[in-house]
Amino acid sequence: MLLKNAGKNGNHQYKYQQIYKGIKEQILEGDLQTNEKLPSKRKLASQLRVSVNSVTNAYEQLLAEGYIYSIERKGYYVEQITKFTDKDLTSRKLPDDLKEQTSDKEGWLSFSHMTSDISKFPFDTWIKSKQKAISNHKTELSEIANSQGPYLVRKTISRLIKLNRGVICEPEQIVIGSGTQLLIQQLMNTLQSTSDIDTVIAIENPGYSRFYNLLKKMNLDVKPIQLNKDGIDIKKVESSGAKFVIVTPSHQFPTGKIMPISRRIELLNWTSQSTNRYIIEDDYDSEFKYKTDNIPSLQSLDRSNRVIYTGTFSKTLLPSFRISYMVLPSDLLKVYKKQNADLIHSSNTLSLYTLHYFIEDGEYGKHLKKMNNHYEVKRKVLIEKLRNRFGTRIHIEDVPAGLHFFATFQTKKSYSEIEERAEMNKLEVYTLKRFLLTNERDNENEKSLVIGFASIEVEKMEEAVERLYQIISN
Ligand SMILES: Cc1ncc(COP(=O)(O)O)c(C=O)c1O
Repeated sequence: MLLKNAGKNGNHQYKYQQIYKGIKEQILEGDLQTNEKLPSKRKLASQLRVSVNSVTNAYEQLLAEGYIYSIERKGYYVEQITKFTDKDLTSRKLPDDLKEQTSDKEGWLSFSHMTSDISKFPFDTWIKSKQKAISNHKTELSEIANSQGPYLVRKTISRLIKLNRGVICEPEQIVIGSGTQLLIQQLMNTLQSTSDIDTVIAIENPGYSRFYNLLKKMNLDVKPIQLNKDGIDIKKVESSGAKFVIVTPSHQFPTGKIMPISRRIELLNWTSQSTNRYIIEDDYDSEFKYKTDNIPSLQSLDRSNRVIYTGTFSKTLLPSFRISYMVLPSDLLKVYKKQNADLIHSSNTLSLYTLHYFIEDGEYGKHLKKMNNHYEVKRKVLIEKLRNRFGTRIHIEDVPAGLHFFATFQTKKSYSEIEERAEMNKLEVYTLKRFLLTNERDNENEKSLVIGFASIEVEKMEEAVERLYQIISN
């Protein structure tokens, strides 16, 4: 009776594992009774034709897990095991609606704004930087990094954003994290837990719905604020009672407009009219400007330490790297450090040191320059193809910046029809509907789309534009 299964099944198991499993099952099924004596190791070994060692190992494992107990010089006995109240195992099965379909991207074309062009990424130099990071930082790689990210990497980022974006900060003010969303969540969590900082948040509408949805789910009071010609409407921000305002001044998401200097100054002035008012400047794709020089960040104009600057390497490198950062003004840094003292840093240290060498050795600058030229061409070709195909039925906000543009099409189709037809035609598109944060009536005669051009190959543009035409026009 004993060991009815042991030694038979489980081809890939060691003998002792088979013996252990056999005895465990018999105990759980009640075939072996509480306090029943198990055969001696020697006897069981000869019965099963295995070594005594195998039986010893099996008994040791059962002992460690509490299935059996031993009495010195007497042997091993079955423990009294608590019975499960719920015998049914069906609840362990994952419900069908939670099963993921492995997405088949075969034949799809994409106008996503969340991508970058992997075909131009210099993996060779990235790998060289990685090798340098491994050789030079063995100690750091064996430890958990500073909760804001390694100091050396923060120093490099602070130099980079000073040069490229005019951001004025010390490495101490930088918090690196694996995504801007995560960083904002962390910051808001921190502030929520300190009762003296009110977290009513104003956000551009249309705007980046991923931030909006995240903050709403955190039960924060988020107020979508309409845009006017120059960007977020300051009077409406004022009357919303917000203490924080999230903006994308370098390239408004999704409309693509660049905030003029006067609106920037008005926003900064808004912060000084009351205490504890802050601007979150989401500078997600500002490194890409075609025809003009880079436009300095809002943070660079700030005179009273009221701007929280967020940046990302998702656009300039690859979104899958998940390297983003925020720059905190000193008063918020103090609160942040206090509240997050126990936090373990979320990014991969090796990727961060790799980034450090990639920047330090000039590879980042080279790559950025190359990509600016590359994206400028792609953008131009795509706009031309769209205008050729749609003629007067398309209006493009032609702001030469970033990795997407905003286009409005004359069509009677609804947003959901466009989305359904895009799915059928295997074209990834993002409609304005996704980024409208309030329920407004759609315009019956026109619909707007956010057209990303980073990942689509130039040779495939004609085909993608044709698919879009079929989706929108027919
Ligand atoms: C408007 C906007 N803000 C911020 C981000 C930053 O994202 P990440 O979490 O990759 O840093 C993105 C990414 O596409 C974006 O579109």
